[in-house]
Amino acid sequence: MKLNDELTNSIASVTEAAAIAAMPWVGKQDKNAADAAAVAAMRERLNSLNINGQIVIGEGEIDEAPMLYIGEPVGNGQGEKIEIAVDPIDGTRMVATGENNSLAILAAGFEGSFLQAPDMYMEKLVVGKKAAGVIDLNHCLEYNLDAIAQTLNKSLSQLTLAILDKPRHHDIIIDLRNRGINVITLPDGDVLASLYATMPNNPIDVMYGIGGAPEGVISAAIAKALGGDMQARLITRDIAKGNNATNREIAAQEISRCHNMGTDVNITLPLEILVRHQDVMFAATAITAGDLLSGVTEQSDYLRTHSLVINGSTHSLRYIENYHLR
Ligand code: FBP
Repeated sequence: MKLNDELTNSIASVTEAAAIAAMPWVGKQDKNAADAAAVAAMRERLNSLNINGQIVIGEGEIDEAPMLYIGEPVGNGQGEKIEIAVDPIDGTRMVATGENNSLAILAAGFEGSFLQAPDMYMEKLVVGKKAAGVIDLNHCLEYNLDAIAQTLNKSLSQLTLAILDKPRHHDIIIDLRNRGINVITLPDGDVLASLYATMPNNPIDVMYGIGGAPEGVISAAIAKALGGDMQARLITRDIAKGNNATNREIAAQEISRCHNMGTDVNITLPLEILVRHQDVMFAATAITAGDLLSGVTEQSDYLRTHSLVINGSTHSLRYIENYHLR
């Protein structure tokens, strides 16, 4: 079964709706209100589609924002059985503060496409097509970077890696820089880093680090669709955010939720487990301006959106500039 253009376009309009709804909240210092607006718009647009859809990867537990919950049915109940992985805003803090690079994103595929996993943390390693097949999270990062550099015919000092600028990564960042690797740090938004690692003329060679699992599964859809590679591990909150009593309690719940969903923490999940089918799509619409896409802007009576749509069925990538009459 292939994801045809009509289906891809209609699903891609969902991130446009979310970005337009989030736009009034840019710079308003209220990330939950921004997320709530994006979620409501995504839900409304998804429910207007001619699909028998289900949310399989949702968000909400990590940042306690309103959510499109895992298992939620979406669409008008007719048409294809479609699984949807959503992140209504990747970069809620960036929307709240008016920073660049916030995106409304989703991935979609036919039934059985995506790993079923709770909203928790995930360690991720993403590379583009040229380095596909050489990564292995059962080995240390150092081993993987050597293997990637060798395959790309680069020295370590020619390798560029993107990582979230989070306290949990500070020692790794220092160590990588000491070894001469070019390290680009992003305040938030690791899906953008996965895009950079896998797109044509990719400006970075590797994305590494611990971030959200929903963003991880969506990143895996990008890697699958563009012929890149990714490996991941589900990580409990005490490891990602600090070992204290509250986080240990959350970690115990995360482990049990993983078991209920047929997966586990700390095991290496290769790309074929993260995303099982080639026929998956990814869509992103920028909320605030960024390096890859222009943000939502007012143009007289219209709102202009700028999106990126990747289709794994055709291994293709296209930018969409759309004008929406207000
Ligand atoms: P949200 O906007 O959905 O909160 O995600 C932003 C983000 O930076 C993700 O890109 C990343 O995967 C995750 O948060 C990391 O989580 P945390 O900020 O808790 O370390």
